[in-house]
Amino acid sequence: MSKEFEDIEKLWKQVKMLMILIGIMVIVAVFLVVSTSYKPKKKEIEVDAPTILVENPNSLDPSTDLWVAPKIEEAQNLTDIQKEQLLYGKDLISNTSKYLGPKGSVANITNGMNCQNCHLDAGTKPYGNNYGAVFSTYPKYRARSGAVEDIYKRVADCFERSLNGTAPVKGTKEMEAIVAYINFTGSNVEKGKKAKGSGIYELKFLDRPADPSKGKIAYLAKCQSCHQANGEGLLNDDKISYQYPPLWGKNAYNSGAGLYRVSRFAGYIKANMPFGVTYKEPQLTDEEAWDIAAYVNNMPHPGKDISKDWPKIEEKTFDHPFGPFADGFTEEQHKFGPFGPIKKAKSK
Ligand code: HEC
Ligand code: HEC
Repeated sequence: MSKEFEDIEKLWKQVKMLMILIGIMVIVAVFLVVSTSYKPKKKEIEVDAPTILVENPNSLDPSTDLWVAPKIEEAQNLTDIQKEQLLYGKDLISNTSKYLGPKGSVANITNGMNCQNCHLDAGTKPYGNNYGAVFSTYPKYRARSGAVEDIYKRVADCFERSLNGTAPVKGTKEMEAIVAYINFTGSNVEKGKKAKGSGIYELKFLDRPADPSKGKIAYLAKCQSCHQANGEGLLNDDKISYQYPPLWGKNAYNSGAGLYRVSRFAGYIKANMPFGVTYKEPQLTDEEAWDIAAYVNNMPHPGKDISKDWPKIEEKTFDHPFGPFADGFTEEQHKFGPFGPIKKAKSK
């Protein structure tokens, strides 16, 4: 063999070695990338919020013809783990403060109110601001945020506004349990439909502005025995939760909350207050309900930066109490009414 040929063979051997080495390195690199990306992510989600459809859609109460929520205890198709999660979700709605209030056992992220204070009977009472139309209608576009919102976002909204705090992060045991419970509660309502008797009772408008001074008189006669003359409610002896929740003052819902709109407040109290009444046998006249709403919402509430709300001002709801507005009506009229002319102008 000539020397030249030997040199070429040597070089060829070196090239082959190099190629094998590169090959091994590539294989190792690919393995590393694949193996790290397949590593299970940090275990944050304890149990996913299940969406369980119960068997009889739109089940109605024969005596009232209104929607009735399914009962966790009676649901056939749930695992024990799912039942446990739903019961925890229900407990979080009913006793929010115990877990998440200023002295809560899990976190201190809310004002001490319970979801149930405004979503009565854990969100199942007819016209008690119930959850009958949540699972069936979300995700949906909401003009307040100008975006399509899912149920997590809507729940977070009430944490940040009605409970004037912060929401537990999606994926935490608490947030998943709350959403699971709300999903389950509305799971017997057909998708796209609103349950009959869901949400808040829609009161007829007055043809005058709601009047805070008349409202004060009615408040003192019919509300202050529980919610107190100073509107700040009354804590239980344990000081962890309220016996009578606050209506204004530093621990009440903030100025970005749904109840801060007088139509929501008036509709809610007409069908539910004084505590114990139902929509079938209300105690307040329509005028009293509107006037008390005006009085309570005219008292101080915690503020909320809502500069990002209603990105399209022409979509602002008729009783959003803060300008600017796309129509020619004043802030005063948007706060107290009369609302008829505002709605009429809008529908044109
Ligand atoms: C101070 C009263 C108040 C409290 C407390 C409150 N909410 Fe609400 N919530 C409202 C009002 C008012 C609405 C809007 C109802 C309407 O406009 O029909 C609402 C709406 C909702 C909706 C959407 C309902 C629908 O049909 O679109 C969900 C879901 C919700 N709240 C969950 C919660 C949860 C969970 C909590 C507790 C963390 C909570 N809320 C606490 C007053 C309250
Ligand atoms: C007998 C006591 C009692 C009377 C009287 C009463 N309430 Fe209440 N109110 C309650 C209780 C208790 C709750 C919370 C219900 C729950 O958590 O299940 C509540 C909840 C509320 C809420 C929602 C939670 C909040 O604090 O924002 C509003 C609004 C309200 N009441 C307004 C009124 C108005 C207005 C009147 C008078 C017309 C009135 N209440 C009369 C006991 C009462």
